[in-house]
Formats: sequence, structure tokens, C-alpha cells
Amino acid sequence: MPAQRSSPAATAAVVLTLFSWARLSEQAPANGSTWSYLECKVSLPSLAFPGPEGEKMWPKRYPFCGGQFQSPIDFHEDILQYDSSLLPIEVEGYNVSSLEQFILINNGHSVKMSLSPTMHVRNLRNKFSAAQLHLHWGNQNKLEGSEHTVGGKHFAAELHIVHYNSDLYLDMDSAADKSDGLAVLGILIQVGRFNPSYEKLFNHLQNVKYKDQETYISGFNIQELLPDRLDEYYRYEGSLTTPPCYPSVLWTVFRNPVYISREQLMALQTALYCTQLDDPAPIEMVDNFRKVQEFERMVFVSFQQGFVESIVLASSLVAVVVLVLTFWLIRRTTRSRRTKEDKGIIYKPAISKEEENTSTA
Ligand SMILES: *[C@@H]1O[C@H](CO)[C@@H](O)[C@H](O)[C@H]1NC(C)=O
Ligand SMILES: *[C@@H]1O[C@H](CO)[C@@H](O)[C@H](O)[C@H]1NC(C)=O
Ligand SMILES: [Zn+2]
Repeated sequence: MPAQRSSPAATAAVVLTLFSWARLSEQAPANGSTWSYLECKVSLPSLAFPGPEGEKMWPKRYPFCGGQFQSPIDFHEDILQYDSSLLPIEVEGYNVSSLEQFILINNGHSVKMSLSPTMHVRNLRNKFSAAQLHLHWGNQNKLEGSEHTVGGKHFAAELHIVHYNSDLYLDMDSAADKSDGLAVLGILIQVGRFNPSYEKLFNHLQNVKYKDQETYISGFNIQELLPDRLDEYYRYEGSLTTPPCYPSVLWTVFRNPVYISREQLMALQTALYCTQLDDPAPIEMVDNFRKVQEFERMVFVSFQQGFVESIVLASSLVAVVVLVLTFWLIRRTTRSRRTKEDKGIIYKPAISKEEENTSTA
């Protein structure tokens, strides 16, 4: 559906050229991390990029990070366009048996859980199979850790469930750099009541405090991590939000957030380190979100923003008017009847009748 780029052929050509360029310029991977968020200052074993590297440095080694269609972005009125062809998201195989095991790993940038390719997203232009999920968050002092923002406003954290196009590619690795390779579900996370489903992840964080540590989690229903409404979302074509920032992601960011408790958010913000267990200078894993990128195209939305609200507002106004009118009519009828009764003999019962009326109003 939403491949509305101005000139698809030209874009594809540019993207392909860029891909081959990046492939050629990629060097043998160094042992340590070759990129970081500013806060996760990881010193590099290789001399290629010595010293701390923030996201401003990403394009030096990963040219796509300074290129087109970069994510995340801010969703604001000017770029949103309602698209009635956007069907509700459907997931398949997300209810994973507790006999199966997920691997949870601290990769030095986030906490990541591997997922089975038997999990799928439907209602996209191809079949997409799950590869992994991971989170982005801020730090203890602020409730701003999501990557995508709405009207300039951050949410507390964000969950990404990453899928690859299994109609066209064998696995995540071969799909990751293809323009139609990936589909990510983005779930905005806000502080509210305790969330037992998220706890199934969070209660293992202490086992992966340091980089490269792994643990196992019993299977559970991954759909519990999604918001209830899968029919309301933002849709656009963007990129991985971490190096190598390939512009290969069909994004679906749900409109409604999920809620976790303040304590749960705190656990996420304080449990992990970017550094290995034996590192003499441990660095906390905080603020591992990329800042929003410039975006000059359209984001398609499956819901009629503003419009729906005005319908609701209009119908409530009508309801109020009808109520007031009805009340007024009843009052008028009662009053005229009373006037007639006043001319009669019985005065007292009429007052008690009125009292009854007011007490139940
Ligand atoms: C990289 O790690 C391997 C084993 O994990 C080790 O043999 C090698 O010396 C390391 N290289 C550097 C540059 O640290
Ligand atoms: C998920 O699967 C379990 C059995 O493995 C079942 O008991 C449970 O009802 C399922 N949940 C949903 C929402 O389908
Ligand atoms: Zn992510």
C-alpha cells in the first residue's frame, strides 16, 4: 500500500547504489562496539573511531545514518494523512507456548529478545516474520525515552518488534538492507498501572545487567505487549534507528500507548549497563533512543484524527441540547398543569409532587 514516494524507480536506484557503497566501505567488525549513544560512551578497541561516539558520529562509519528516510520521527498534524485502505494489524503465532524459550541478551545498546519466525504480522503487503524485540528508554530523571514522538511529545519508553519480509528473504540478515526488507511494530510506553505482561520481560533484567550476558525466558503471549487497539496506527517508510540505519523499515507505530508502573520503568532505567561485567568503568545503559529525524514526506494514519473527535463533540452537544429542551418542556407542562390545579382546591399534594420531582432530577 504506502509506497507513495515521489519517484519509486529513481529512489530505488539511489538506495541500491547507496547499499553497494555501504557494503564496500564496511570494514571488518571490531570486537568492541563501534557505535554508541552519547551516554553509552564505549571506548573502542580499534583506532578507526577512537574516543566516545555519539549519534552525530554514526554517519562517519555508517553512511545511511546521515542519509534519507531516517527514523524515528515526530508525528505532527502537518504530515499526517488519513488512509482508509490501512487495515487493522493482525498477528499470528504470537501466543508462544511456555515450553519454548526466548533468549534475552544485553547487546550493549539495549535489551533484546530473540523471537521465532513462526510469529507473523499480517495485513502488510508481504508476509513478515518476527526476528526480535527490544526497548528504548530514557533515564530516572525524566519520562522521555521513546524514539517516536507525537506532537513533539515523548513517551516514557518504546518497544520495537522487528520482522523481516519472509516472502522475499531467507532471514533477518539478508532482509535488513533491502528497501522492502523489514517491518517494525512500535509500541509507545507510558507510566500507569503495573503491567504483568511486561513483567515477564522485566523480571529477567537482573540476569542480563552487563553487555553480552544472556538468559532464557519461557514463552508467553507476545500479543499482551501490544496495545488493545490494533486498528489505530501511524504508518510510514523509514529506517533502523540504530546503525547501520538502513532505510528498509515499514513502520507501524500504534496510536495508543501501553502502560507500565513507575517501578517497572525505573527497573528498566536502572538495571542495565552498556559495559561488560569486568569493565573497571561501568556505564549505565540510559537514554538509548535516537533523536527525531527531519521528515518531509507524509505519514499515513489509519484513524481520522480530529475528525472523529469533532463528531463525538458534535453528538454530545446535540445530546445536551435535546436534554435541556426535554427538561424545559417537562417543566412547562408541569407548571401549566399546576396553574390549573392552583385554581382548584388541593394545594398541599401539588407541593409534595414537586418535591418528589426535584429530588429525583
Ligand atoms: C577479538 O576477540 C577474539 C575472541 O573473542 C580475540 O581472539 C581477539 O584477540 C580479539 N581482538 C581484538 C582486537 O580485541
Ligand atoms: C495461549 O495459549 C495457551 C496455551 O498454550 C492458552 O491456554 C491461552 O488461552 C492462549 N491465549 C490466548 C489469548 O489465546
Ligand atoms: Zn529499536
